[in-house]
Amino acid sequence: MGEFIVIVLVVVTVAAGLLRRRRPAWYWVCFGAVLASVRILVRYASVMEACGLTVPPSRWRLALARMANRPVPESRSPRILRLRPTRTGLVLRLKLRPGQDAFDFSAATDRLRHSFGMQGVSSRELRSGVVELRMTGYDVLKCVRMPAPKTSASMSPLRVPVALREDGAIHYRDYRAVPHGLTLGATQSGKSVYQRNLVCGLAPLDVALVGIDCKQGVELFPLARRFSALADNPDTALDLLEALVAHMADVYQLIRAEQRISVAVPDAEIAADIWDLPAGLRPTPVVFLVDEVAELALFASKDEERRRDRIITALVRLAQLGRAAGIYLEICGQRFGSELGKGITMLRAQLTGRTAHRVNDETSASMAFGDISPDAVLAAIQISPDTPGIAVAGDSTGGWARIRAPHTSLRDAVNLCNAHADRTPDLPALAAFRPAVAAFSPASVSLSKAAPVTA
Ligand SMILES: Nc1ncnc2c1ncn2[C@@H]1O[C@H](COP(=O)(O)OP(=O)(O)OP(=O)(O)O)[C@@H](O)[C@H]1O
Ligand SMILES: [Mg+2]
Repeated sequence: MGEFIVIVLVVVTVAAGLLRRRRPAWYWVCFGAVLASVRILVRYASVMEACGLTVPPSRWRLALARMANRPVPESRSPRILRLRPTRTGLVLRLKLRPGQDAFDFSAATDRLRHSFGMQGVSSRELRSGVVELRMTGYDVLKCVRMPAPKTSASMSPLRVPVALREDGAIHYRDYRAVPHGLTLGATQSGKSVYQRNLVCGLAPLDVALVGIDCKQGVELFPLARRFSALADNPDTALDLLEALVAHMADVYQLIRAEQRISVAVPDAEIAADIWDLPAGLRPTPVVFLVDEVAELALFASKDEERRRDRIITALVRLAQLGRAAGIYLEICGQRFGSELGKGITMLRAQLTGRTAHRVNDETSASMAFGDISPDAVLAAIQISPDTPGIAVAGDSTGGWARIRAPHTSLRDAVNLCNAHADRTPDLPALAAFRPAVAAFSPASVSLSKAAPVTA
């Protein structure tokens, strides 16, 4: 019997060790969560004391002890309201003692991480006097697996789960809350994969996708079946942008027309953007993706300079006015600063949602976060080249978080776009830019020196 127990223990230990190395997510669910919960509960009081998160006994407790001739009472730690295991870690909810504040906890997160033996700890104030510590049990960004997103009827119809946050939560891109976004990063840092994930998230929704891909279309053209309009060079891009500005004007005319009816009806809501219109009349929202935006702002001749000015003007107009017409910009580039010329900083200021992948210098990171948070600038520079896809993203609370999108291959994205091809709306104003999805013949392009294979 004794031998049997020893064998079982050895097998379980070896299995746990193997799982921990090979499948950290499974290890966490099977063993890690229980072990970490026990560890935290056992060490809780001493860790809180060591991290300076206790308060000395109050005057009345001291007086009571003195009257009862008892030893001096100990300092008290914050009360544990709840300890809840999650798929990736633990959530510890604490009730603060008088005199403590949420900043004490956010300043101590790194010390708590070491003391509790966790991978990451972040803190946030839930309400006055209650702080939540979110802890991750293993490096969730090493191999990203997205959990099933929570859906509810009250949620925005344009909210796309796009990446995983360091604390194990899902990072959403919500176009109604943050209409325009800017994604920066050095070459090979994972911008196009991030954008591909966005397209995959948007493909099943009622939305028109319009794209400009100045890398001759290598990133977006394979997804063409789900796109209502695409451009792969600055000349076509200019025509496409001007057509989109015209589409925006049409949408505003429609909203105006509806407003006149509403004014005549005393109690009706008056529409000021497409979401106020009745569903039957509402134009399809448009998400407009631009990859390698700097290409649109470069010029080598006078003609190209004129074209550049018109492109940037159109982009600024879309960023300024597009939101209410349901046009949302998603711009990707390596750098997006004033060295690209007039109008760029004005455009950048309109792009609220910021994401920075690995950057090579501080000025590039500052283009994304300089005016938001110096810590985020530092975090973006510290991303290692070995971990493409890791990025720093601003969130709706004004804070920031490290995120990583799942490594979706182009094949998977193409399959998904093809599966949702029937959702691609026809936008009459952009009909001329609807990509042709005829079969491509490789013989038409040949740059390699190798002789063609003849069977
Ligand atoms: N989220 C991710 N997880 C794992 N690997 C990734 C991720 N994102 C990108 N990569 C890897 O990094 C490589 C480069 O990614 P991507 O093409 O998106 O970079 P990029 O920033 O668009 O580069 P460029 O500026 O040259 O277009 C990909 O081929 C992929 O192997
Ligand atoms: Mg790219």
